[in-house]
Amino acid sequence: MYLGIDLGTSAVKTVLVDGAQRVIASESRPLTTASPLSGYFEQDPAQWIDATFATLDALKATHAGALAAVEGIGLSGQMHGATLLDASSRPLRPCILWNDGRSAAECRVLERRWPALRATSGNKAMPGFTAPKLLWIATHEPEIFAATKLVLLPKAYLRLVLSGEAIEDVSDASGSLWLDAARRDWSDAALAATGLSRDHMPRLVEGCAPATTLRGELARRWGMTGQPVIAGGAGDNPAGAVGIGAIRPGTAFVSLGTSGALLAPTSRIAANPDRAVHTFCHAIPDMWIQAGAILSAASCLAWIARLFGATEAELLAPLGLRPQAPSPVSFLPYLAGERTPHDDPAVRGMLDGLSHGTDRGSIVQAVLEGVAFALADCRDALADAGIAMTEADAIGGGSRSRFWLSVLANVLNVPVHRFAGGETGAAFGAARLGRLAVAGEAIAAVCTRPQRIETFEPDARLVDAYAERLPAWRELYRPRH
Ligand code: XUL
Repeated sequence: MYLGIDLGTSAVKTVLVDGAQRVIASESRPLTTASPLSGYFEQDPAQWIDATFATLDALKATHAGALAAVEGIGLSGQMHGATLLDASSRPLRPCILWNDGRSAAECRVLERRWPALRATSGNKAMPGFTAPKLLWIATHEPEIFAATKLVLLPKAYLRLVLSGEAIEDVSDASGSLWLDAARRDWSDAALAATGLSRDHMPRLVEGCAPATTLRGELARRWGMTGQPVIAGGAGDNPAGAVGIGAIRPGTAFVSLGTSGALLAPTSRIAANPDRAVHTFCHAIPDMWIQAGAILSAASCLAWIARLFGATEAELLAPLGLRPQAPSPVSFLPYLAGERTPHDDPAVRGMLDGLSHGTDRGSIVQAVLEGVAFALADCRDALADAGIAMTEADAIGGGSRSRFWLSVLANVLNVPVHRFAGGETGAAFGAARLGRLAVAGEAIAAVCTRPQRIETFEPDARLVDAYAERLPAWRELYRPRH
């Protein structure tokens, strides 16, 4: 039996997976995000721990026998967040999250101080990444910077609480900017450019390797008979890739979570930092992931549902199964700024083309189309790096909407496939990493492709209509910096 724990942004999701890779049970607990200023996003790490423990306590109440038999645990997590710990491993302040845009000036400083940044990390310095956040802290909260003894990404903090050890996997570590992506090790030059050293960093392991074990008292709390191994795990995007068996070149996929991404596993680094393409180590050895990342995807749907005082299901139902034509309204999904391709934390969203005749359905459709157009920008940025996409699997909560996947297939002009249970992708991928860390099985034998349950084919008439709309949609973007 294996556990996958995904420390997301909107929730912690925990799945219990058996030896036949069936999800026996899953539990989820919501998380809240504070936004003390526009473009600032923070979470209290104590919330992550309470939510994780609540999922496990709930599993114990309903599935005690299965939980008792857990041998391996995999962690997946929201990437990039800066969790700063003092000498007693206590958080010094709320974690600054992946979508936080406060450190734009520090990104410019970092690129000047360390000219090899792009060549070494495969990334451009963008405020979402961890390193510029530390420069921001050094300038704006120097007493906290001085007290910082350890810098952890969110799931490494969770692992510290679960095991007592500070360990990170190389896929999540690549989102820090402190990693030499080719060597899969910390870069001393990168750390020095932010006034830090290896002493401030956790030990590194591969995602599918054993990292540590669950503390004895926690194993007893959850009734486990052994002391389960905790794998390296992965950032949520690489973990999602493992969940759907995207472990080889040619297995690009789309993630429609709180954030969105178009991700392509590669056997060599194919970076394109100038267009804000992300380079991550994969959660399995000798593979990387090139990604276009957008900051708001399913969160745009949640936003519009809040505005209309309706549930997402109520908004989606009247749209039917597929679009008849593009909405007369256009939407820029930059509610928290944007990464790929603009790297513009200051830009904000927009609804364009409103009239007296605009109804709720046209606005909801425009929101879904705006996210799809943003992913088309990601596709083009990846294509510039030589990564072509002929089809895409879809994962994440947004992939439950058939209408949205149909829009995506037509905007991207490729077939889009859906899986059963796609919304538990990252947690399921994490459970697979937990299994790999225990059993010494072949990666390809465990990371199989799950059954696709539906394919959305592009329709030539809609493909043309969206291709015609895309340039006008792009024109709406005006850089704010
Ligand atoms: C990826 C990114 C997000 C977070 C949160 O670069 O910032 O996908 O991992 O899910």
